[in-house]
Amino acid sequence: IQISDNWPGYSLDLFTYPQHYYGDLEYVLIPHGIIVDRTERLAKDIMQDIGDNDIVVLCVLKGGYKFCADLVEHIKNLSRNSERFISMKVDFVRVKSYHNDQSMQDMQIMGGDDLSKLTGKVDFLFWALLCFLLTIFFIFCKDIVGTGRTMKVLLNNIEKYKPKMIKVASLLVKRTSRPDGYRPDYYGFEIPDLFVVGYALDYNEHFRDLNHICVINDHGKAKYRV
Ligand code: IMP
Ligand code: MG
Repeated sequence: IQISDNWPGYSLDLFTYPQHYYGDLEYVLIPHGIIVDRTERLAKDIMQDIGDNDIVVLCVLKGGYKFCADLVEHIKNLSRNSERFISMKVDFVRVKSYHNDQSMQDMQIMGGDDLSKLTGKVDFLFWALLCFLLTIFFIFCKDIVGTGRTMKVLLNNIEKYKPKMIKVASLLVKRTSRPDGYRPDYYGFEIPDLFVVGYALDYNEHFRDLNHICVINDHGKAKYRV
């Protein structure tokens, strides 16, 4: 689904959202219901591509947690109601790169099992090796591809193990001028080059508790700037 640059969005007055964000948002870009419906279709597409393989979902925290949870739920429902039973594992990696609304140079990958202790790449290495050894369908589950830098770092780290079936699912892709033209294998919406929040996407850790994907306004940016 392509959301064009001149799409005005929906007025905030048409929906409900937390009172503590009144005055901080410009408009609703994608209402929560549409996100969930589109995710259901992505789950169906993924199910079709899986074949008889098992699946490992690697959720990229923190922004990917809502999308990942909904995607996993839809895959489970589809699997339960079909003849084909799919076994699924879920794990988490965390990547941190943004400061305010800017992508930063240094990027940290952290394993998911114990985020405070595993600040190295132990857990990630484990999955990378498993990727090589087994014919499992791996899916990186991500909130948004902006510059594409985060995804590149993740894939570079795992690609040296020559994984057979590694796919990337991202809820959003931003229309930035990406020189490499990187595209995830599955994505929900292509959006204009705007900073968006909600549905687990944050601005300095705020707005993750907002259901809809919204565009933040200047007041909101100033209020939560660090
Ligand atoms: P990239 O490296 O520029 O592709 O950005 C990847 C990460 O930056 C995403 O996983 C998000 O966590 C964060 N990010 C990028 N754009 C946005 C945005 O518009 N809103 C909130 N977070 C964003
Ligand atoms: Mg963030």
